[in-house]
Amino acid sequence: MIKAVRGTRDLLPPETETWNRVEAAARDVFRAYGFHEIRTPVFEETQLFARGVGEETDIVAKEMYTWEDRGRAASEKGQSLTLRPENTAGVVRAYIEHKLWERPGLQKLYYMGPQFRRERPQKGRYRQFYQIGAEVIGPPSAGSESPARDAEVLEMLAALLDRLGIRDWTLELNSVGCAHDRPVYNEALRKALGENVARMCADCQRRAETNPLRVLDCKVPEDQPMIAKLPRMIDFLDDACRAHFAEVQAILHSLAVPFVINPRLVRGLDYYRKTAFEFTHGALGAQNAILGGGRYDGLSEALGGPKAPGIGFAIGEDRLVLSLQAAEAAATAPLDAYLAPLGPGMNKEAARLARELRAQNLVVELGDESFRLKKSLETASKLGARYAVIVGENEVAAGAFAVKELSTGTQVMVARADLAHALAARG
Ligand code: HAM
Repeated sequence: MIKAVRGTRDLLPPETETWNRVEAAARDVFRAYGFHEIRTPVFEETQLFARGVGEETDIVAKEMYTWEDRGRAASEKGQSLTLRPENTAGVVRAYIEHKLWERPGLQKLYYMGPQFRRERPQKGRYRQFYQIGAEVIGPPSAGSESPARDAEVLEMLAALLDRLGIRDWTLELNSVGCAHDRPVYNEALRKALGENVARMCADCQRRAETNPLRVLDCKVPEDQPMIAKLPRMIDFLDDACRAHFAEVQAILHSLAVPFVINPRLVRGLDYYRKTAFEFTHGALGAQNAILGGGRYDGLSEALGGPKAPGIGFAIGEDRLVLSLQAAEAAATAPLDAYLAPLGPGMNKEAARLARELRAQNLVVELGDESFRLKKSLETASKLGARYAVIVGENEVAAGAFAVKELSTGTQVMVARADLAHALAARG
């Protein structure tokens, strides 16, 4: 049998309904904030990602699906192409290629679509995954450098998550500095790493030389105590970066958008300058970042374009849908018991019992005496009840009821006085 390739998956109904709902909500929110859709190709020249995302990042060094395309003639050398691992580089390439800076104001562009990274698959991490992202980019004269842009993007994200009903998110915020203060910080990092770096992993040893900031992104457990002691970028910010970061925070405070500062937040892409952020959600486990983003003020120039500061983010749609499913499961109250009146005249008894149990805060569904035992148990299972309680003439006379645990099939007799307690016990 031919199956979907490892790390890829089919999205089937009814789950696709949730995907459509998420995308529709995102489009509504983007419209209200003045964003328009851009669609760029799924593959690009490899160089774009090497220069844009950074040669030293895990994404470029280890995770890209790259191949050499056939040349037009047999003798012609092919071009190196790559399935996009992210979409910011593609959007900035399109901005430069189509001279979008000639259009008035800022370019506010959003996209939705698949991205490809050869990561180890696990829950919330796939090799083909989907992002919903947006970028605000333009000449400084249009206000692209302003901290107001950062705050606007963050507030929009909070509004989108709230609209979708995801409540318990955390916004983690950091500043990763800029072209002026980064070299000073890199030097401080190199000094702090010093001879200790010899005891760290091979990647860290190389990065300490080529791009020390990437050491902070190392996931090797043995290296973490060393990394925890390294200096923090926010202590090295120059005056302009510090003021920018303070203003972003001040606007967020005034908008009542909650956030925490995480000085250890380094993103897995090299283009970030100043503001960097992630929204996390507890229900997701290890892969808990629903979305990430930040400012990339030098990216356009690095790709051969004009000065065009920008800020953006990408939501991991797979993870957003997982968070929604967790939120929805939590919101639907579980059914504690299904009461099955058996035999004529038992509706009154069962109704009385249901009233007593509901008064004790148990979630109870009440059947009726027209059902036979088998049918009652089937209905109870279909409704997802934990227990079925059988209310028959003998039970009422004895003052004790047969309680069947539906997941195991175990049945015990429970005295009326103990019933609420027994049903409340979680197995
Ligand atoms: P990123 O942090 O690499 O940023 O990815 C953004 C989000 O995509 C992550 O927070 C996560 O939810 C999701 N994601 C990443 N890898 C996977 C995977 N293998 N499986 C499932 N979900 C995944 C970027 O891609 C930047 N382009 C964001 C950005 C836009 N920065 C500025 N503008």
